[in-house]
Amino acid sequence: MVARNLKNVDLETLVSLSKRRGFVFQSSEIYGGLSSVWDYGPVGVELKRNVKDLWWKSMVRDRDDVVGIDAAILMHPDVWVASGHVSNFSDPLVECSSCHRRFREDQLESDKCPECGGELGEPRQFNLMFETHIGPVQSAENVIYLRPETAQAMFVNFQNVQTTTRKKLPFGIAQQGKSFRNEITPGNFTFRTREFEQMEMEYFCKPGEDDKWHRYWIDFSMDWYKRYGLRSEKLKLREHSADELPHYSKASADIDFEFPWGWGELETISNRTDFDLKAHMERSGKDLSYFDQESNERFVPFVVEPAMGADRSALAFLADAYDEEGEGKDLRVVLRFHPDIAPFQVAVLPLSRNDKLVPKAREVYDTLRPVFNTQYDDAQGIGRRYRRQDEIGTPLCVTVDFETVDSDDAVTIRNRDTMEQVRVPVSGLVAAVSDQIAAMRTAARE
Ligand code: GAP
Repeated sequence: MVARNLKNVDLETLVSLSKRRGFVFQSSEIYGGLSSVWDYGPVGVELKRNVKDLWWKSMVRDRDDVVGIDAAILMHPDVWVASGHVSNFSDPLVECSSCHRRFREDQLESDKCPECGGELGEPRQFNLMFETHIGPVQSAENVIYLRPETAQAMFVNFQNVQTTTRKKLPFGIAQQGKSFRNEITPGNFTFRTREFEQMEMEYFCKPGEDDKWHRYWIDFSMDWYKRYGLRSEKLKLREHSADELPHYSKASADIDFEFPWGWGELETISNRTDFDLKAHMERSGKDLSYFDQESNERFVPFVVEPAMGADRSALAFLADAYDEEGEGKDLRVVLRFHPDIAPFQVAVLPLSRNDKLVPKAREVYDTLRPVFNTQYDDAQGIGRRYRRQDEIGTPLCVTVDFETVDSDDAVTIRNRDTMEQVRVPVSGLVAAVSDQIAAMRTAARE
């Protein structure tokens, strides 16, 4: 195992690395940016896609008790009345009588406006859902919401999914997708934003088995982060106290990660009981109960929900991977991602853009590309390219040099973590890269 730097990277360093290397850009930057909205660049999109694909694989494809859906962001407005979001999904805000800015009362240090010193009014509830209108007429009857969570689509599709898949309890429905919340205090880079992506799974089970499954999914999630390289000491489980439970939950636990600014929530695993299904039964008048053939009973299932943020997880993997070696002009910044999380697994680097080397380097690239997420990089000197690949966390660099074409038909593999360089024949390159990636997977868990 390679020794990891345990020093916390500061947020400013991460934000600047993210921009420099194409992980994350500010939205609409040429217009001065849109506050707390971010775009993933060519490297960041690969990182986030890996996070989402690994979650989908372990949550859906590797299991026979969870299926996926991909529902629309826009839903019938009654969904949000039934779910309680219209009445409960709000923060108490106070408004300044002079500048009319609004603040969360619990975050104020005095009873005056922090912006202009004006008088603050009485707290009023401010709903966090974004509203829009469906169709051409902008009237109260046409108001709909951008979904504030993906979960409700799993509840309203429970019958559709159950009857088409013939799944028996316990089984889950998973979904990944955008959610929107008009957060009052967004911030900390991509940690709290107004548009974000969630990865949620609703696990339907028999009442009475819910506590067991709650425990199971807490352990599953905790293990998932560790499996992909987050260090145990940076993760902690935090059970919600009774007064902070969401309105739908009997018990909730957060998995928190130690971000550069301190501990923050990555995921909440809640026991949502039969709250949502019952609420939708009542509002829609449709029967969402389940007939259990074993016990010959009909009942409304209970639900356990692991609810993870794709952006927060990607940020946690980025922050935890950050490492530095040396100092001054010898400083080497390296992201020690798990090889399955790393945006690219291999980079092919011709020693130079020499006409003799480029065709061979392209051939090597074409050999690796079907098997690994591979980048071809021939811009600037080789030293700078190694540095660039270290900064985006590419586990292996494959260099094509003059010996490759003149004499040995072999290439050099440079390992990001051990810095070892080995010469391997091009004919054995896929196997050699696979072996090194496998060794890095094992090391990430140790
Ligand atoms: N369906 C339950 C639910 O939405 P949540 O704890 O409000 O629960 C789940 O959200 C996860 O979604 C959070 O743990 C976090 O990772 C992510 N998330 C929530 N609000 C977010 C925001 N404003 N920006 C980024 N991610 C957010």
